[in-house]
Amino acid sequence: MMKIQIPATSANLGAGFDALGLALTFYNYVEMEESDRIDISSADGLDIPADEKNLIYISAKDLFAVCGRKLEGLKLVQTNNIPMARGLGSSSACIVAGLAGANHMLGNPLTTDDLVDLAAQIEGHPDNTAPALLGGIVTAVFDGRKVHWVKQEVFTKLKFTAIIPDFELKTEKARACLPKEVSHNDAVYNLSRAALFSASLLTGKFENLRTAVHDKLHQPYRMEFIPHCREVFDIAYTHGAYGAYISGAGPTIMAIVDEENTYFAGKMKFSLENAGLSGWEVHEFHIDNNGTTLC
Ligand code: HSE
Repeated sequence: MMKIQIPATSANLGAGFDALGLALTFYNYVEMEESDRIDISSADGLDIPADEKNLIYISAKDLFAVCGRKLEGLKLVQTNNIPMARGLGSSSACIVAGLAGANHMLGNPLTTDDLVDLAAQIEGHPDNTAPALLGGIVTAVFDGRKVHWVKQEVFTKLKFTAIIPDFELKTEKARACLPKEVSHNDAVYNLSRAALFSASLLTGKFENLRTAVHDKLHQPYRMEFIPHCREVFDIAYTHGAYGAYISGAGPTIMAIVDEENTYFAGKMKFSLENAGLSGWEVHEFHIDNNGTTLC
């Protein structure tokens, strides 16, 4: 069976709501082959949809339809390392797996650009799907049909430390709480910081990241669903993080940390427990520059 490796992603990066995202060295795996029926199982015993509601299956079927083919069935074996509904791109990983696998099964009729567009159409925004496909840090504009994107590979001595709580936050709920309109001042606040984030990350001006991750479009509203969010930010900064932000729609908090800050994760765990936040896990990743690969 074909095996697909798909990276987790961290979207928004603070101020770049629906526009910025990066891939992480943390992966889901999907084994896939065409079949005359739907045969979906989980290699790790996780409870996953095993019928036509499975997002990998839906995405593969969509790609077949775009190419004028009917997908009769699919055999899938999923290894889901990326926790669901935690702001680390688990649903995008499914969409991208379905598209990349189906495209390969058909002999790659769709280009990378096509896959980026189709993935964003399914997800509704490109900031998880595009980096999951492409790797690196991706800047993307989705016009509702097409994604205009730039992928930049990142070779920094930075760790992305995910501080993951033991509860889920569904993206729909985390989007429903956002205001329909924002002020001109807030728009400028965000666009200047989103631009500062990419430029600072890519040029090594990491001291700007603490300012760059602030935003007024989503994080202040989502914090109400993430108890102790500000406290976790404060602890991360106390231990020397360059920046800390809500990853994607949350509830994971991502801390950007210098590689030389060797004991950051250990110190975070210690401080979280001291603060009574023992349900939070701490995992260190780097930026994945390869995106989705077939192995
Ligand atoms: N940009 C998206 C959001 C990412 O913040 O809602 C989550 O999928």
